[in-house]
Amino acid sequence: MTTPSLLILPGDGIGPEVMTEVRKIIDWMGAKRGLAFDVSEDLVGGAAYDAHGTPLHDDTMAKAQAVDAVLLGAVGGPKYDVLDFSVKPERGLLRLRKEMDLFSNLRPAQCFDALADFSSLKKDVVAGLDIMIVRELTSGVYFGEPRGVFDEGGERVGVNTQRYTASEIERVARSAFDLAMKRDKKLCSMEKANVMESGILWRDVVTEVARDYPEVALSHMYADNGAMQLVRWPKQFDVIVTDNLFGDILSDCAAMLTGSLGMLPSASLGAPMTNGCPKALYEPVHGSAPDIAGEGKANPIACILSFAMALRYSFDLGAEAARVERAVEKVLADGARTADLMGPEGGVPVSTSGMGDAVVAALDASL
Ligand code: IPM
Ligand code: MG
Repeated sequence: MTTPSLLILPGDGIGPEVMTEVRKIIDWMGAKRGLAFDVSEDLVGGAAYDAHGTPLHDDTMAKAQAVDAVLLGAVGGPKYDVLDFSVKPERGLLRLRKEMDLFSNLRPAQCFDALADFSSLKKDVVAGLDIMIVRELTSGVYFGEPRGVFDEGGERVGVNTQRYTASEIERVARSAFDLAMKRDKKLCSMEKANVMESGILWRDVVTEVARDYPEVALSHMYADNGAMQLVRWPKQFDVIVTDNLFGDILSDCAAMLTGSLGMLPSASLGAPMTNGCPKALYEPVHGSAPDIAGEGKANPIACILSFAMALRYSFDLGAEAARVERAVEKVLADGARTADLMGPEGGVPVSTSGMGDAVVAALDASL
């Protein structure tokens, strides 16, 4: 069997710091579980711009297309605010998503018991929460044409276009139904069919796909109501499927249910490759957090859990993924807290590397 390949793109801000901790987990898998990965590293975002004048070099794009999975840290920072839109760090990430055709973005929001008190919502609202947001990632208003800032009769007009084809909706809907089948068989589709034609099509197509999944209970919700329901009683949901922009917003909202944005991993999956595994990119939902970059304050858990998702979805190592997830759970139960998780009830303050070391120790203890 060939060694599975992994391209690491640490990116900007806290990206490199959290990735250093993930490398410890990857090394641990090689040393203690005999699961070696062929790891290579490259630049993305502002770091790539600084080196090459582009947020994603063509060589890096080609490498990303060739590997079994990509693991990305975060992109962006105030230093790059002045750059032309076309070379902003975020464009590097969006190019990866688009050219790898990663249409299905899985953003699980799970509330670890140890953090139930820490959420800004009441404990009984979030304790035991386990939901999955499936966000369409390669179309919609993020990519629709026409787009731009135009001059119209002496006034500037900013234009973006929400555009979805039926097949784009169908493929992401199928991936959400497939996931629902493996979970509690409940799927809620969110759009704004009350004001947007693309929402009407979305609702129609999802309803058609549902015929192939008679066991899944499908419901529809306007996305604004969905945001409200997510904070009112999130446990009513199992899987949520939604478009690119609503998914961006709703997943940040869901992240806070778990206590911190520093906890949420994600998997962006495309069509199966010749080896049967999907094209895949894994990244934490959080951003580059330039305000705390380089201070050892960042929480590496979202990135570590993103690697766990890679083990599950790209490498068919569900048991090892669960091992990493249990290690994180244990570390949190033992009280280790990075700055973002430090609430009034206290805990044992740890740095970014302290958290990574604690997860490695918990992994050792799992053997
Ligand atoms: C996310 C981020 C990105 C997005 C940015 C960095 C382009 O917010 O992954 O949620 O808007 O998709
Ligand atoms: Mg976002």
